[in-house]
Amino acid sequence: MSSMWGDNIKISLFGESHGQGIGVVVDGLPPGFELDMKKIAAHTKRRAPGDFAWSTRRKEADEPEILSGFFNGKTCGTPLAAVIRNTDTRSIDYADLTAKPRPGHADITGRIRYKGANDPRGGGHFSGRITAPLTFAGAICMQILESSGIEISAHICEIAGITDSGAPTPGATPPSKKTFPVYDDERGVLMQKAIEEAFFKTDSVGGVVEAFAHGFPAGYGDPFFGSIESRVASMFFSIPAVKGVEFGIGFEASRHRGSENNDSPVMAEGNVVSRKTNNAGGIEGGISNGMPIVVRCAFKPTSSIAAEQDTVNLNTMTNDKLSVRGRHDPCIVPRAVPVVESALAIVLLDVLMGPRLG
Ligand SMILES: Cc1cc2nc3c(=O)[nH]c(=O)nc-3n(C[C@H](O)[C@H](O)[C@H](O)COP(=O)(O)O)c2cc1C
Repeated sequence: MSSMWGDNIKISLFGESHGQGIGVVVDGLPPGFELDMKKIAAHTKRRAPGDFAWSTRRKEADEPEILSGFFNGKTCGTPLAAVIRNTDTRSIDYADLTAKPRPGHADITGRIRYKGANDPRGGGHFSGRITAPLTFAGAICMQILESSGIEISAHICEIAGITDSGAPTPGATPPSKKTFPVYDDERGVLMQKAIEEAFFKTDSVGGVVEAFAHGFPAGYGDPFFGSIESRVASMFFSIPAVKGVEFGIGFEASRHRGSENNDSPVMAEGNVVSRKTNNAGGIEGGISNGMPIVVRCAFKPTSSIAAEQDTVNLNTMTNDKLSVRGRHDPCIVPRAVPVVESALAIVLLDVLMGPRLG
């Protein structure tokens, strides 16, 4: 079933963009884990629309109300259910779309798949808004991982072809604490200009988010279908608008020789086997090798744009034109950074709670 994911941490997402609410059920959490709700709220707030000139005007508090599985500030270990009420819906913007599907969105495929019975308002269950409960579930998983010394972080790696610098400068503010999460703020300004330019041209741009997990121990994961790559990819490709996922140096590895690409083992402090490089992104044979897990995902440009585009009219069955009204971000990437962090946290907690190899 497509709305459920996981072997050990099982999550189930529900809701539609303009329905009563959206939410998540998280099953398999360890009992008695004290959650820092302020920290969770700070994380989920990063996904909410920004205050940039080009940000979507839809303002939602996105505050999850926990219905079950949480008592006296701690997880019960029973299913934790949370709901986020939709408050700022404006379905009139979408009235046209029942007849005229948005190019690049799920209006046509959703209609065929659900025989026209799905709620199309605001993208319904296909909306990027459904990533709000996913982000909440991931914030819980992040805290549990943190208690085992595993830190997850992500940054905007690229927008409209403008790349962030590869690594943080010592002592610099981590991207997670910034409104625009990049390492290099000057590059960040150029990215914001590119988004703004696309917005004023009634268009949109895409980009890449890069995520890291530091401190993930060696020996977790499985070969083949249970590989960490397979599980992360399955979760990342579930995030709407993700069109590519790569680990370590990813596709770049195919252009290198084995002698350049191999991460040679090396003895490190404490008699631990480490690697000289981390081209594999911390995973060998589907199993963690103790190096930082590094994964990137590519987001396409937002499909809903105000520029006029070709589509069809399903009432008259003729070719037609469409200019998408409504409130959309001209670039999904900045808001997707905490979503990606959360998605990685859910997968890694799921893996960590499974059987250990070796
Ligand atoms: C955080 C987030 C926000 C999004 N906001 C929008 C949006 O405002 N307009 C839009 O057309 N798509 C938006 N999307 C992407 C669509 O939901 C997605 O393109 C659509 O469901 C079709 O799925 P696909 O692109 O994976 O094929 C958003 C995605 C995410 C992750």
